[in-house]
Amino acid sequence: MILPTIRKANIAVLALAVCAAPAAAQTIKIGSILTLSGPNATLGDNMDKAIKLYMKLNQDKLPPGVKIEIITRDDGGPNPDKAKQLAQELIVRDKIQILTGLTWTPNAMSAAALTTEAKVPMVIMNAGTSVITTMSPYIARLSFTLWQSSLPMGTWAAKRFKTAYVAISDFGPGHDAEAAFSKGFTDAGGKVIGNVRIPLANPDFAPYMQRVKDAKPDALFVFVPAGKQATAVMKAFGDLGLGQAGIKLIGPGDITTDEELPNMGDVPLGVLTVFHYSAAAERPANKSFIAAWKKEYGEKSIPSFMSVGAWDGMDAIYYAIREQKGQFDPDKTMALLKTYKNPNSPRGPISIDPETRDIVQNEYLREVRRVGGQLVNVELETVETAVKDPWKIINNKK
Ligand code: PHB
Repeated sequence: MILPTIRKANIAVLALAVCAAPAAAQTIKIGSILTLSGPNATLGDNMDKAIKLYMKLNQDKLPPGVKIEIITRDDGGPNPDKAKQLAQELIVRDKIQILTGLTWTPNAMSAAALTTEAKVPMVIMNAGTSVITTMSPYIARLSFTLWQSSLPMGTWAAKRFKTAYVAISDFGPGHDAEAAFSKGFTDAGGKVIGNVRIPLANPDFAPYMQRVKDAKPDALFVFVPAGKQATAVMKAFGDLGLGQAGIKLIGPGDITTDEELPNMGDVPLGVLTVFHYSAAAERPANKSFIAAWKKEYGEKSIPSFMSVGAWDGMDAIYYAIREQKGQFDPDKTMALLKTYKNPNSPRGPISIDPETRDIVQNEYLREVRRVGGQLVNVELETVETAVKDPWKIINNKK
């Protein structure tokens, strides 16, 4: 990965922006970069809805007199150049004090260096490639890493399947999912008999599914971005009859993302995933989250794991703001984010690991079942509690 470079002139402008930032801020400006248009628009929309709902329901969690102004920008998809330009404008022109959103790994990476130069904390609400948080001390992540789900998925899968094929989208989170699953599966005695990397843009999944069918693995592990790509994978898997051929589809929860299940037909029935969030989870905190969501957005609307990343991201931001009692300091903000915990997130207990600034959370084994006429991700068991990013542990990264 080539780190984005900032031109000298930009550094000077960013430094000025930092000096001009007021010490006591009554209105805290937050920039949010999300995907709100194009084929992946539902991803950002699900995050934006969570941000707005959190703000509406939690005004009383701010110190008296403190207001939040959120400035939302659309990156249009996995588009690092656009995201970097938007981050720069938000920092220099709009003078935001926190940058958040960040649906995609390449976009978060392209803005990482800016957060260091300008001392603007970045709170990641989705992008899940492990390395991102090591790219700036001003990054904290409230979402997940692919290593957190795919390593335990591999270990668990080896108990049930002898052979697996691995198919992933050819970019950061896909590479992480591939490495993590392969390690978990192989270390536990399974054999990976083939793997394929699928282009991120406009993929046609049918030829890849045919290749997998011909290889006859016991299981197919897939990571593609949640949303419409996951639905397209299900369609190709169903159309080519991989299920009938005895191949079990498994993966991280991105492939059975809650909000898309109603669009996937019956193909996902029985698909097994490991993940940190299901909209069908029975936890009281999730039930009240779902009730608030449906009240605001309608009975048919279903929040995704990206919504929960955004919801918890806002909760961490509000915590850091509340504890500063009307002041705002970037270094204090990062120190506070490192102490953030919530025993009652919709996904269960979460915290930020102070050493890595990355999320710590439970991982659940789920199966897609029909409940009350709807396909949902039923949580079967907690495969591991308080999971730190395994990639950082294995590679000794902070
Ligand atoms: C990412 O870019 O890190 C990403 C995108 C979509 C997902 C998961 C991760 O479903």
